Order: sequence, then structure tokens, then C-alpha cells
Amino acid sequence: MMDILSEVAVTINVNGRPIKATVSPEESLLDFLRYRAGVTDVKCGCNKGDCGTCTVILEDKAVKSCLVLAAQVDGKRVLTLQGFEEDALMQALQKSFATHGAVQCGFCTPGMLLTARNFLEHNPKPERTEIKEAISGNLCRCTGYKKIVDAVAAVVDNETGEGA
Ligand code: FES
Ligand code: FES
Repeated sequence: MMDILSEVAVTINVNGRPIKATVSPEESLLDFLRYRAGVTDVKCGCNKGDCGTCTVILEDKAVKSCLVLAAQVDGKRVLTLQGFEEDALMQALQKSFATHGAVQCGFCTPGMLLTARNFLEHNPKPERTEIKEAISGNLCRCTGYKKIVDAVAAVVDNETGEGA
């Protein structure tokens, strides 16, 4: 009767809401979020850890959710972009991304914003090279990165980006 490959009951707190589900041992946190929790602001790009579009905040740490098993996250807290709607730092970043033209197709943007916010929370006054390094795990096929780095740097400098 005992089967090590059998499904696992989990409760994962997603953006402040506990979601209960029974997951297979190989189900990723990314699939859990998109298909069970209905949280589609987290995007699936490569599904193998290369692009960073699936970035979420797991217990205060930015992780690539395609590389994390849902079963490992039982009892833990996950935040996606939706979880930061009232957050002043995230609002400043979103505004700065818009004013600096750092959003084009927008596919990388949720992951990029979460990575940038988590980085600034732990390092509020970084050098430009540190910003570049911090976002290096998040790929963008549109912007060439300069506008993204400009947008994050403007928040560090307390600028809105207008006229910058
Ligand atoms: S979808 Fe997870 S890193 Fe690309
Ligand atoms: S804005 Fe299109 S992938 Fe970054």
C-alpha cells in the first residue's frame, strides 16, 4: 500500500492565501502556482532554470520556481508580483520601469521586478555593476538590459525617471 511515488498533500501560502492540494512528487512550484493557485503573473519561459521568468519569492528569497518542487514548499510562504500590490518599493520599481522603457513585450518583467526588489531590499544602495550582476539570472530578449539597469538605478537614486 505504501508507495514512495504517491501523491503528497501540501498547503502553500500563496500571496497570503493558503492553497491546499495533492501534488505528485515531480510537480514544480511553477506548475502549482499557475495551474492550481491560478497565479498567472508568474511566467514559464524555459522550464529548466535558465531564463528567470518564473522567479518568485520563497520565504524571503528569490528562486526560480521551475526548479523547486511543490512538495518541498509545504507550509511555506510564496509571493509573486500580485503579492506586492501595496508595496512601495515595488511600486517605485514598476513606475521606473515604465518611465525608462524597461518593459517591451513584458514577458520577463514580473521575474525581473521580483529579482530587483528582493535585491534592493537586501542591498539598498548598490553600484550599477552590482545591479547588473543581480539581474544576470533573468533574461530579456527585448531591451538590451540597459533600460532595465537604468530603471533600477533610478530607484536607488530616488528618481522617478522622468526626464532622466
Ligand atoms: S522558466 Fe524557470 S528559469 Fe526559465
Ligand atoms: S521586455 Fe520582452 S523579454 Fe524582456
